[in-house]
Amino acid sequence: MKKLLPILGLVLCAMSAHAEKISLNTPHNSFVVDLDKGAEPQFLYYGASISSADIANLQKIKDDNWSRSDLYPAYGATHTMNEICLAMRHADGNLSTNLVIDDYKVTPHTETAPNGATRSGQLLTITLKDPLYPTTVHLYYLAYNDVDMLESWTDITNGEKKTVTLTQFYNPVMPVRRNNVHCTHFHGSWASEAQLVEQPLKTGLLEIKNKDGLRNATSDRNEVMLSLDGPARENTGDVIGAALCYSGNFRITIDSDESDYHQYFAGINPDNSEYHLKKGETFTTPRSAYTYSVSGTNGVSQTFHSWARKYMLRHADKERMILLNSWEGVYFDINHEGMDQMMHDIASMGGELFVMDDGWFGDKYRRLTDNAALGDWVVDTKKLPEGIERLLADARKNGVKFGIWIEPEMANTTSELYEKHPDWIIKAPGREPVQGRGGTQVVLDLCNPQVQDYVFSIVDNLLTKYPEIAYIKWDANAPVMNHGSQYLPMADQSHLYIEYHKGLINVCERVRAKYPDVVIQDCASGGGRANYGLLPYFDEFWVSDNTDALQRIFMQWGTSYFFPAIAMASHISAVPNHAVYRTTSIKFRCDVAMSGRLGMEIQPKNMTDEEKAFCRQAITDYKKIRPVIQFGDLYRLHSPYAGDFLASEMYVSEDKEQAVFFWWKLETYKNQHLPRIKMAGLDPDKYYTIHELNRIDNEPLQCEGKSYSGAYLMQTGLE
Ligand code: DGJ
Repeated sequence: MKKLLPILGLVLCAMSAHAEKISLNTPHNSFVVDLDKGAEPQFLYYGASISSADIANLQKIKDDNWSRSDLYPAYGATHTMNEICLAMRHADGNLSTNLVIDDYKVTPHTETAPNGATRSGQLLTITLKDPLYPTTVHLYYLAYNDVDMLESWTDITNGEKKTVTLTQFYNPVMPVRRNNVHCTHFHGSWASEAQLVEQPLKTGLLEIKNKDGLRNATSDRNEVMLSLDGPARENTGDVIGAALCYSGNFRITIDSDESDYHQYFAGINPDNSEYHLKKGETFTTPRSAYTYSVSGTNGVSQTFHSWARKYMLRHADKERMILLNSWEGVYFDINHEGMDQMMHDIASMGGELFVMDDGWFGDKYRRLTDNAALGDWVVDTKKLPEGIERLLADARKNGVKFGIWIEPEMANTTSELYEKHPDWIIKAPGREPVQGRGGTQVVLDLCNPQVQDYVFSIVDNLLTKYPEIAYIKWDANAPVMNHGSQYLPMADQSHLYIEYHKGLINVCERVRAKYPDVVIQDCASGGGRANYGLLPYFDEFWVSDNTDALQRIFMQWGTSYFFPAIAMASHISAVPNHAVYRTTSIKFRCDVAMSGRLGMEIQPKNMTDEEKAFCRQAITDYKKIRPVIQFGDLYRLHSPYAGDFLASEMYVSEDKEQAVFFWWKLETYKNQHLPRIKMAGLDPDKYYTIHELNRIDNEPLQCEGKSYSGAYLMQTGLE
């Protein structure tokens, strides 16, 4: 039979007088739906690209009570027993909604991505209407032209004369055929983020959620991989990767009921978040991003990494500066001499940027520890009498760039800001605020446009006054601990979580419109905001407050499933480690930190000369391998979660000319037998010359300086 390959774009196949199969194609994936005006939209296929002949023969999932293929089940009229995407209370109290296709179209689409880049693809818009109520829902599917990414989202418009209430508002469902499907997701907590969890999808519901209010990646994360044919494998097998691009409370529900399909739902967490939609208003959901890999979990990671570098991160075409951050070195003990010494030390080790962390601000209330002054973003002139001017002058003198820490969404009740604007904080109506870190920390109410202006002004004032500031570390160290907005009317208190994140994005957009070039780190008690809702406004994120090199291997491994190395701030710190009190060698700490965006988190004056010399050499070497790590393709080779005290991964440059191979021992036993690791991603016909970095042995490895073919390294590996 003649091979019919789909071309980029869409394929239309007439089915019956009315129904039509619509296929959206990315370079290697197809997504096919069945659309019939007056009926509910049906899922047909998501997977590797298929031919138009095969599309023509795709069958709908058998439509009975137990096998469903509806893309957007709405509660109450035809769907009551199963999980649904949309539930709403109409103005007259009716809880039932019936959404059928009114129209649909596929159009070439170009838009500005949230990071400012231009992206294009084919956009399928399906317009759904309820025959009984003037409710309109648009389902959108965007298939990218240049990367295997499919995004879906919805908007819901209230055409009724009065307000309606949305009680659940997921994105369209993604049905996944049952076949020993395994779900890989990431669970954690403060200082232990992104721990990899893999579980088979059995019957019942798997719910992955976050209700922190602010830091939605601290515990469960909103990225998931579904391995479709047995336990996850790195380089083989079909895997769907899915990320919800949202920074607020989310819920992912995978429903495995009686049907042949698991139903994958993702969206804003509806708990205590019912949304009142006024007449004529439209509610837009955050996007879900999907890719389909036929080359295992690593294939999903590579697609997410290249999508992120193109469209979801700032300045991902620029190498990141090697920095020293002051936090673990001096904590709140900030002064000119100390900052100057740290700048001098990082410069002397080859670093390019110094970042002054928490502790530099406060006047009436001083930031001597974590219990005061958040909100009072004026220099503490007792600590820094010559102000930021002197810090900038010292940075210039030492030949490094200067960066500064802020936590702009927060206040302490011990602050001048709180004294002036007690009405600006989040708190339950009629109750005293619950206070967090330091016993006094509260969250500012970003639902309030005045607060948004204020938060923007913190960045704006700093960067207007000191345009030399090259880097901002934007921190957020509190959840919503008591529900209530002093700005929202009582009737709309349930909008708090949603309006907060709209307000935050609004501020981020304003910051980026005015300051497109400044580097900004996304930090929230560590990796609490590693998500694709916020990252497009940032350059990178702090992976974790736990800088212990050994535990970092596990956290960075999990983080790497969806986020590229260029975004993962990874710092060499002191021993015993401040989080886990473990002592590891300087070599091990460098070996681990160099697998991400390298930095330091240490008091250099407490380092020995040997340690400094080691770091100086590591930094020199990192500059050479930096493009491979920050722009190359990741191959995870041996998982630390395998339990055999070993982990290995590598990065390969796009042209496959260079590669960096990491091999970490997680434990040391006498006469421990360790396997050879087969490399991946190399050009089998190219010869690669081996050079060990961060060497501590007196004798070089036997392979040092020798050249091996990519084929040999991938088939056999090095001893
Ligand atoms: C939490 C961050 O994750 C740390 O790196 C540090 O900036 C502290 N906050 C400062 O309070």
